[in-house]
Amino acid sequence: MPDSPFPRLNALIEGIAPGKPPIVMSLGEPQHPFPDFVTETIAAHAKEFGKYPPIVGTPEFRAAVAGWLGRRYGIADAIGPKKPLDPDDQILPVNGTREALFNVAFVATPLTKQGQRPAILMPNPFYQCYAAAALAAGAEPVYVAATRDNGFMPDFAGLPEDLLARTAMIYVCSPANPQGAVASLAYLKDLLGLARKHGFLLAVDECYAEIYDREPPAGALQAALELSGTLDNLIVFHSLSKRSSLPGLRSGFCAGERDFMRRFRAFRNIGAPQVPLPILAASAAAWNEESHAAENRARYRRKIDAAERLFGNRLGFYRPAGGFFLWLDVGDGEAATRELWAKAGVKVLPGAYLSREDSNLNGASDSGNPGAAYIRVALVEDEARTEEALKRMAEVL
Ligand SMILES: Cc1ncc(COP(=O)(O)O)c(C=O)c1O
Repeated sequence: MPDSPFPRLNALIEGIAPGKPPIVMSLGEPQHPFPDFVTETIAAHAKEFGKYPPIVGTPEFRAAVAGWLGRRYGIADAIGPKKPLDPDDQILPVNGTREALFNVAFVATPLTKQGQRPAILMPNPFYQCYAAAALAAGAEPVYVAATRDNGFMPDFAGLPEDLLARTAMIYVCSPANPQGAVASLAYLKDLLGLARKHGFLLAVDECYAEIYDREPPAGALQAALELSGTLDNLIVFHSLSKRSSLPGLRSGFCAGERDFMRRFRAFRNIGAPQVPLPILAASAAAWNEESHAAENRARYRRKIDAAERLFGNRLGFYRPAGGFFLWLDVGDGEAATRELWAKAGVKVLPGAYLSREDSNLNGASDSGNPGAAYIRVALVEDEARTEEALKRMAEVL
C-alpha cells in the first residue's frame, strides 16, 4: 500500500505557502450541523456507557434500520422474521462503515479459490480501505478502471473468466466516491448475477446513498430482491456519517445474505468493535428521522448549483448524481493541486492518490492511472466558504 492520500497531499504541497487564507476541500468530512436530538439521546442514555454493547446492537436499532431500508428502497414487504431480510439475523451495526468494509474481506476471502490466490476486485479510483482490506486478507487487489467512458462504473463482466473464477469479492461504491456516479438497478442486477455465477460476494458501499441530486439512487438490496427474492451473495454498507453529518459518531450498518451475515457476526463477535449503547440509541433516532437528512441533501445541492454556475462546462464539470465531490478534469491533478494551494489557498486532492496504475484487463482504458488528470473537491464546508473556495478555484483554473 502506498501512504494514505492525505500524507501524500501534505508532502506534495510542503513548503508552498497558501496564497490566501486556507480552505480545505481535500477531506470528505461532512461539516453541516447535525440534529440536536442526537446529543439529547446520547445524554439520556449516557449511563449505558457502563455496559459492553452486544455486537448485534439493540432490537430498537435494528428496527429503525429495517424501517428506513423499507421506506428508502420500497422493500418493506421483504423485511421481517422468515422474510428475505430478517433484521435480527441480517442487519449488524458497525463502528462506521470503514471498519466493516475492511473486516468483511477477512470473512469473504478463502485461503485459495479454484486452487489459486483469491482476488478482490474494485473500481479504480476507489476508497483506499478496499485495497488495504484485500491485501490484509491475503487476496490480490485488482483495480478495474472506472472512467468517463464507462460512466464511472467498471466493466467487471468483461474481465477474463479465470480471474472471475478466483474472485472472492467485488467492492462497488454507489454513489461512487470520487466521481458521484450511481449504479443503475440493471448494473447491480448484472453484477449480482456475475457474483452468483462465480460464487463470490458482492460488497456494495452505499454510504453516500442519501446525498443525491435528483433521484434517490437505486440500492443493491432492491436489485437483489427484484432479481431473485433473496439476498444471496450480497452485503451492503450504510453510514450516518454522510446522511446525518455525523462522521464522528462512528455509526453505520451492514445487511445482506443470511449465511454470510451469520459468519460475519461470529467473526465480529470476537474481533470487531461494537457500537456503544448510547450511540446505538442516537443512531436509531437518526434512521427514524427524515427531515434532517432532506435538509442536509438540500445544502449539498445548493453548493453543486454554485459549482455549476462557476464552472459551467469547463474542466469536464458535471452535476454528480450522488455524493458531495466534484471530480474535475484539470489535465494534471498534482500540478493543479499545487497551483490551487499556492494561488488560491484551496486544498484539493489529486485524483491520482485515489487510484492506481490500471492493469487494463478488460481493455476499458488505456493503461495508466485513471485518476491522474483529475482533482477531487469535497463540498463539505458551509455554503459561504464553499462558494468562496469555488470562486477562487475558478479564477485559477
Ligand atoms: C466510499 C466511502 N466508503 C466508506 C466510508 C467510511 O465512512 P464511515 O466509516 O464514516 O461510515 C467513506 C468515508 O469517507 C467513503 O468515502
